[in-house]
Amino acid sequence: MPQAKLPVVVMLSGNGSTLQAILDAPELEALIEIHGVISDQADAYGLERAAAHHISTAHIPKLAADDAQTYTAKLITQLNDWQPKLIVLAGYMRILSAAFVQRYALQIINIHPSLLPHYKGLNTHQRVLDAGEVRHGTSVHVVNAELDAGTIIAQAPCPVRADDTAETLSARVKAKERELYPKVIAWLARGELVLTDHGAYLNHQCLPEQGWQLPDLPGTAPSY
Ligand code: GRF
Repeated sequence: MPQAKLPVVVMLSGNGSTLQAILDAPELEALIEIHGVISDQADAYGLERAAAHHISTAHIPKLAADDAQTYTAKLITQLNDWQPKLIVLAGYMRILSAAFVQRYALQIINIHPSLLPHYKGLNTHQRVLDAGEVRHGTSVHVVNAELDAGTIIAQAPCPVRADDTAETLSARVKAKERELYPKVIAWLARGELVLTDHGAYLNHQCLPEQGWQLPDLPGTAPSY
């Protein structure tokens, strides 16, 4: 009997090229079913990408009158409808409340454009350039209540070139993200990757602190 697909909800705020990479990943087609896409921004292009694939969407803004508890309740109400087993953050620009993270403990993953634990937060590409780093990359991690600080599942490093701008560096990192995120989601869907309070286990092996490392081979990923 074919295995049931993993029910997934994607949360985003913008362009949605990360969502597109998930939708286009051939290995995920038989493994996951995206029950819905949530955006806090009404004009996020990611919502259009979802609609083009006939995926349900919800615009859930954080209104000025919403405190963290109210906003969390709105998100959970929507998620109760869609019943995800995995929540994939794909450029979602809000910090999720501790209550939300606790409700979906070990079921939320994020992709962050740096080699964590370095360069948490925003503007990572420019900060990496300003610091004169020669190596940059992206990390997939478990979301916990602390910003960009959950267990690191996997990383994809790439070089920083002498003539890089934040844009060229971002494009190189995004190509890595398009490869890495679907791979991690597939591991989870197949049950090969198990997330626990004391680390991530890939095929029963506890992953090292910096996660599984994607070899930095010349990429062939498409651009979006
Ligand atoms: C990605 O590069 C990811 O690293 C970060 O946000 C970006 C989202 O881009 N978390 P997009 O909206 O998916 O194009």
